[in-house]
Amino acid sequence: METAEAFAARAAREITDRLRAALAVRERVALALAGGETPRAAHLCLARLPDGLEAEDWERIEFFWGDERLVEAGDSGSNVEAARRDFLDPLAIPERQIHAPRKGIEPDRTARDYEAVVRSVLSGGIGDVPRFDLVVLGVGADGHTASLFPGAALHSGRLVVPARSSSSPRDRITFSFELIAAAREVLFLVAGEAKAAIVQRLLAEADPTLPATLVRPTSGRLSWLLDEGAARRLSSR
Ligand code: 6PG
Repeated sequence: METAEAFAARAAREITDRLRAALAVRERVALALAGGETPRAAHLCLARLPDGLEAEDWERIEFFWGDERLVEAGDSGSNVEAARRDFLDPLAIPERQIHAPRKGIEPDRTARDYEAVVRSVLSGGIGDVPRFDLVVLGVGADGHTASLFPGAALHSGRLVVPARSSSSPRDRITFSFELIAAAREVLFLVAGEAKAAIVQRLLAEADPTLPATLVRPTSGRLSWLLDEGAARRLSSR
């Protein structure tokens, strides 16, 4: 059975491979990170892979977050602060490459402000939707992804929207389905037996009531990285 550490390293290599491929064809690369324990475990490995990216590669990457919890600075619930601890600080990534949502303003304003940041840093895209090179996502046991919870609007007309979680921290902002769909690469990272049931509903049944089912890149590639536990209920046929 693959250990959690081995899965995290495998996930980090998948992220690294996608970033390397993007760096080969574009001067600047836009990466959107996820929160949650599974994505975080992969983030931790990014700075430690023996065959990982070189310093001059990291210098060409712009870091964003697919969602963030609206918590006070220093609060452990922040996805941004977790990523800083996990690998941005260890890699000494300069602030000019780190594009985090502003703190201390109300959710809808935070979302609109972050959308403006995304638009100002990323140029080009499908129609007027900027294209991320890679969006990393996790999946919750209820089928949410980023902070797109069941019932989230599929077409919001916006790139970043406020969200309200049933669990604390409740106030969030999240990439919309439209922004995720414009990405060149979307990579889901799902691990643990506890996710086997939702993975079956997502991948075997394509349950349309689940937000993660509704993530459909317009022309990019969608990949799922599952450990044995999460894949348990998928038929091996
Ligand atoms: C968040 C994430 C969320 C997370 C999933 C999976 O801010 O919490 O963006 O979408 O990725 O809930 O989290 P786990 O891997 O910890 O189950």
